[in-house]
Amino acid sequence: MTPRHLLSVGDLGLDGIDEVLRLADTFVEVGRRPIPRVPALRGKTIVSTFFEDSTRTRLSFEAAAKRLSADVMTFTGSSSSLNKGESLRDTVLTLEAMGADAFVVRHSCAGVPAQVAGWLESAGGAGGAGGAGGQPGSGASVLNAGDGAHEHPTQALLDCFTISRERERRLGYSPARPAVLSGLSIAIVGDIRHSRVARSNVIAFSTLGATVTLVAPPTLLPPSLEGWPVEVSHDIDAVVAKSDVVYLLRLQSERMHEQFLPSLREYTATFGLTAERARLLGPSALVMHPGPVRRGIEIAAEVADSPVSVITTQVANGVAVRMAVLYLLLGSGAPVGA
Ligand code: CP
Repeated sequence: MTPRHLLSVGDLGLDGIDEVLRLADTFVEVGRRPIPRVPALRGKTIVSTFFEDSTRTRLSFEAAAKRLSADVMTFTGSSSSLNKGESLRDTVLTLEAMGADAFVVRHSCAGVPAQVAGWLESAGGAGGAGGAGGQPGSGASVLNAGDGAHEHPTQALLDCFTISRERERRLGYSPARPAVLSGLSIAIVGDIRHSRVARSNVIAFSTLGATVTLVAPPTLLPPSLEGWPVEVSHDIDAVVAKSDVVYLLRLQSERMHEQFLPSLREYTATFGLTAERARLLGPSALVMHPGPVRRGIEIAAEVADSPVSVITTQVANGVAVRMAVLYLLLGSGAPVGA
């Protein structure tokens, strides 16, 4: 994986995604050690810059950085000098001047991580990263931790890792690499329109060989699906019965500025994975959700807690996958180390 930043999962391509998944296996093993830490990023400084709420992604990135022995600085927009009128650009350059080697960026607006990357590339490079090859500009990397309804690349990577490794673990099924999702039918159900997770997962799942079906009411699909490598259905019962993976999405009300549904009750009845509907799942099917979960709306509580659900496995795998991404972007290329 050679890109300096991770802004879209599409930046990686098939080989790049495969490289992340393979390296994540190593970091899963590191996570099982009594002291789950390696010196791979000793001396590096990673700044966690979240301008929108997060539980999983922020803590997972911070845990990943610490397990790689990096220094972690946590920036919280709501208690920063942004409130005194400082611009986002000046905030980023201030953090860069403190020696940041990488910025993990979440923002409610699509495109902010790319904008931060642009500012850093044209910056003076006063911080610890320094300009690559003696060129002007900071050498710091930017990792997109979710930007508006655009993309959430590390969520897609941990989801690919979870599907691939859970199928191997449960079925002894070891597909030809690197197309590790080859032949699988994956349904993504719910609020596709406002979902960065759906956008990144459609790219990643299809790159790895899966057939993706979007299931949603027409109002919760994007205005255009031109160029999306997907099928579309409004019949969740038919799709659930034939899918290897059913991936539920939360209704993202924080990004809804008009009425998209008659009622939550009707949504659950027509598109929720209720206990009754879950009985249609095949014997080896997996149920996934990126979190946060709204139990009783997009998924019944008993389904979320049942053996078909790998929601907590997704969270656990997120640390190893983010270690892999940080290592590939910031590491020296040397062996991971004992
Ligand atoms: N899946 C996800 O991005 O969760 P958080 O919003 O809690 O980070």
